[in-house]
Amino acid sequence: MVKFTSENALRNNQKKKKLERPSKRSAPKSRTSVRFETGKRSASPVTAVFLVGFMGAGKTSVGRTLGQRLNWAFEDLDDRIQQREGRTIAEIFRDSGELEFRRAEHNALRQVVEELRRGAAKVVALGGGAFVQPNNADLLKALGAKTLFLDAPVEDLWNRCCRQASEAGTERPLLQSRQQFDELHRARRKIYLRASKRIDTGGRSIEAVALDIIRKLSLKKLSLRSQQGEIE
Ligand code: S3P
Repeated sequence: MVKFTSENALRNNQKKKKLERPSKRSAPKSRTSVRFETGKRSASPVTAVFLVGFMGAGKTSVGRTLGQRLNWAFEDLDDRIQQREGRTIAEIFRDSGELEFRRAEHNALRQVVEELRRGAAKVVALGGGAFVQPNNADLLKALGAKTLFLDAPVEDLWNRCCRQASEAGTERPLLQSRQQFDELHRARRKIYLRASKRIDTGGRSIEAVALDIIRKLSLKKLSLRSQQGEIE
């Protein structure tokens, strides 16, 4: 069993903080339905799940596994922000400040939402502050996408973030003092609870959490022909 630990999260699914060249692949063209393993076409106009939660909640690790289980595409919004801006999250915070980061985050999310309206199936991991910005929450609500709050004790979140910082050099501009971390977590948690569903990740494997999400949200696996959210 793969344990839900920062070590495994790092090994399997560590969020890439290195910049990658933007993909040349264009977004799916405007057709509307997605074929699932049952052979039926999707009744829902939008096939997307957004993972929300605090820093260290495992949004990227779980999201990637979830995408693999469902044959849905997976994306980490922070990666898109970095590609669009041509600099790392830490550089955006350092050189332009948090307000500028939030603007870039919102614009990147808008772009994802526009692409999803064209019909692809996708799991999206949001950064810890994205869902608490009302303009982002409004976008997701208007899209009709499902949101899933990955919950864990703040102690676990802190330990995971510290371990990722020391073992992988993961830079998180908002990882500062323990007191600031706890206060930010307390303020945000009540907003995360507005997500469609909440899942406890404490002491559970990434795989178990992903399977639980599939069950709780009644998500359907795509046939391989439709892998990466390709439209039929
Ligand atoms: C942030 C969390 C980070 C990243 C940015 C801001 C936040 O993502 O988006 O540093 O406001 O909590 P993770 O939650 O993936 O660490």
